[in-house]
Amino acid sequence: MGLSRSRLEAALQVLSTVDQVPPLSPQAPLPFSFHLFETLPSTNEAAWKLVNQGAGAGTVAIAAQQQAGRGQWGRQWSSPRGGLYLSLVLDPKLAVEFSAQLTLASAWGIATLLRSQGIPVCLKWPNDLVLHGKKLAGILTETRVQQGRITKAVIGVGVNWTNPVPQAGINLKSYLNSQSHASVHSLEALAALILHGLALGYQFWQREGIGTLLANYSTLLLGLGQVITVNGRSGIVAGISPTGELQMQLQHPSETQSATTASGQLILLKPGTISLGYS
Ligand code: BTN
Repeated sequence: MGLSRSRLEAALQVLSTVDQVPPLSPQAPLPFSFHLFETLPSTNEAAWKLVNQGAGAGTVAIAAQQQAGRGQWGRQWSSPRGGLYLSLVLDPKLAVEFSAQLTLASAWGIATLLRSQGIPVCLKWPNDLVLHGKKLAGILTETRVQQGRITKAVIGVGVNWTNPVPQAGINLKSYLNSQSHASVHSLEALAALILHGLALGYQFWQREGIGTLLANYSTLLLGLGQVITVNGRSGIVAGISPTGELQMQLQHPSETQSATTASGQLILLKPGTISLGYS
């Protein structure tokens, strides 16, 4: 059996009344329209099909299992029953070079919601949610671009709930069972948290701008301040750039590097260059 629409809608309604959950702004509503499926190749693919049929921002596709779940870097996302597989359509009107901001806003929003429930997730740049040093969830953002601007985006989120996970993964239900108090009781409640988190992150980014979002994202970022070595040069992880690269502050600056700050030289590392954050 897949998710129940009425339980999902009820869980979202409850969240909007809970004190510790940051509220959504009524000024920029993102009315959700749900499409629930038993089995799909991929909820991202289903979301794009809905967009092609005229669906707009707020459209949500959720499946109980996926047969061809898409992960980062062209990988497969293993998607057996028991996990949460969800995609949300947005229409951000954003220059394509800033597309990473959508993932950063989504990751921060989801982490904020889970943390409001006492689940101490952190962020692993650029798109992972990490709990106790293990991967709890991943985000895959896909975009449609016209004349250099994003016209539609699909934010796909996979969360380990009761599904089996590899060595580097963790599922939320097992984690909660090991705690004295469980704050999430069903897949629908988890889906409501993720959707509220996505909407929160998107609204916050649109309202406050990328500078404030990055400052908030960085407070949850694993590896900030850590010394790393890339191509034989060592530096300190200093933060994330507005285009989504990892900023490494060189310990021994040379004359040849491009970006210079008052306190030293910065190198920008593209996603996939190094891996930070797993124990
Ligand atoms: C990652 O590699 O970390 C990102 C994984 C994203 C997986 C989710 S599951 C729901 C949505 N549909 C997909 O096909 N992929 C994303």
